[in-house]
Amino acid sequence: MTILSRSSAIRGVPDAVAQVRAYHQRTKHMPERYAPGPGDMDWANQPDPFRRFSGARPIALPLVHDDGTPPYDALFHSGRISPRPLTAESLGLFLELSLGLTAWKAFQGTRWALRSNPSSGNLHPTEGYVVLPALAALSDRPGVYHYAPREHALEQRCVLGEAAWSTLAAGLSADAFLVGLTSVHWREAWKYGERAYRYCQHDAGHALGALCFAAASLGWRVELLSAPSDADVAGLLGLDRAADFAAVEAEHPDLIAAVVTDPAVAAPRRLAEGAVAAVRAGHWTGTANRLSSSRVDWPAIAAVEAATLKPPTAPLPPRGFAATTTPAPRSTRDVPRAAVIIRQRRSAVAMDGRTGLSIDVFFGMLARTLPDRPHPPWTAADFPARINLCLFVHRIDGLSPGLYVLMRDEARIDAFRAACHDGFAWGHVESSGIPLYALALGDCRQAAAHASCFQAIAGDSAFSLGMVADFARTLEEDGAWAYRRLFWETGLIGQVLYLEAEAAGVRSTGMGCYFDDFVHRLLGIDPGDDAWQSLYHFTVGGAVEDERLTTLPAYDHLPRERL
Ligand SMILES: Cc1cc2nc3c(=O)[nH]c(=O)nc-3n(C[C@H](O)[C@H](O)[C@H](O)COP(=O)(O)O)c2cc1C
Repeated sequence: MTILSRSSAIRGVPDAVAQVRAYHQRTKHMPERYAPGPGDMDWANQPDPFRRFSGARPIALPLVHDDGTPPYDALFHSGRISPRPLTAESLGLFLELSLGLTAWKAFQGTRWALRSNPSSGNLHPTEGYVVLPALAALSDRPGVYHYAPREHALEQRCVLGEAAWSTLAAGLSADAFLVGLTSVHWREAWKYGERAYRYCQHDAGHALGALCFAAASLGWRVELLSAPSDADVAGLLGLDRAADFAAVEAEHPDLIAAVVTDPAVAAPRRLAEGAVAAVRAGHWTGTANRLSSSRVDWPAIAAVEAATLKPPTAPLPPRGFAATTTPAPRSTRDVPRAAVIIRQRRSAVAMDGRTGLSIDVFFGMLARTLPDRPHPPWTAADFPARINLCLFVHRIDGLSPGLYVLMRDEARIDAFRAACHDGFAWGHVESSGIPLYALALGDCRQAAAHASCFQAIAGDSAFSLGMVADFARTLEEDGAWAYRRLFWETGLIGQVLYLEAEAAGVRSTGMGCYFDDFVHRLLGIDPGDDAWQSLYHFTVGGAVEDERLTTLPAYDHLPRERL
């Protein structure tokens, strides 16, 4: 493989936190200077969005037509969904609704797949793995599997003995299994250059959110395991098997989580002592495919990868949840099944500039992004909330247009307020029942579009937003690797908004393209100080469909007998 090197590394930066800060600073988009990227699109080297492991036994998963999932709103009320037993069918549905295909789009002879999880540029850097016990119709032995979404199949990377599974299972509740996510950073770097590392982390957060909602649809619960190091996750998923990835694009460990299939049982939340060694000693097969014939090396990405490697950390204490569940923001009668909402999720490419939302739906959507709510995806995340929402309200019936803030981490309101313009009103919108504050009223459609790299969808929507992180504090308290976790949190919020928009009959889009310091200036935040940083933008409104595109079913390419 040819590897070209573009741009210089981050030089002279002493420690990991400083490396991260330097990476973040140099990958800011500004109207006069976008973050360093490739410039031209090298179409001949566009990475294959589908990783396969040749030599690993492929096992087709069932495609379940009558999914029998509950109404979408039931996902937000714990205990209402009877858990499904772990079978090949339920596992297949779990993976399809989280990482599987939802449709193909076609235009002028080209086609591309869409998936349950969104992805910046539809480049899909995220790969999924499961570590399973012996399961009828899959294998009579436990093992580690890679999920191949195009084939809706598992690739058996490692066969484990029962003793190895017993070691693993000691850290899990009965009938639980593990799910892991990894990223091929090159897939995003091919198009976006240095800023791509950020997008991979957003995508991992979205994928984690997608896993949480798919699990909840089956009555299961995802629980992030926050203690293991990246080296442990790599060992568990076989990412460090150099011979299996020789001369192909590396996969970087993102995270590992337990999938608890009987949520009534209190589950340990850890990777048992000896688990990684037991899996390493299993019988591994398969070699990863090459995704591009040549690759451009981005030293700034290599530097931030190294700086954000996760060490082993102490397990986080259980988080507290609010006693109440979030009320349904609309008539539950009209809301389709969870699987319908998940499969129909799409990003809007244009907004109509007309459609608004009722104030109840708006408040309900925002309430479901609050971290203390006892429903997915927040029950998965054991880390503290560090992201607040800066909202550009355009068309909400009964709420004046303007700039608002949702303080997801309300304990930090004084610190955030002190960092913003003195002139903001900070009027609590009491009728919302949530920590929503009006900063300044007025038409902010133009400012919203400007902030989002002049993308019209940010101003033509019902509302758009910037996700502002408690940045410096997180890095200083939790270490450089927590940079990744901040982006995961934004992805989780984004996944809630994607599904909430579908349930409300509108549509949304995540926006990784925004002018970082423009947003900071708008809020009055000193661009020279990284205490607070905007990490992701989002927009929700009435979508305009692109009629030129043809939509094709997700799995029609599979042999007839599998459909
Ligand atoms: C992290 C992230 C950043 C994105 N940034 C933008 C953006 O700046 N502008 C845009 O129009 N779409 C953006 N998107 C939407 C993607 O293009 C979209 O998810 C992808 O094409 C797949 O389509 P789907 O979401 O309909 O499945 C982003 C999505 C994600 C997850």
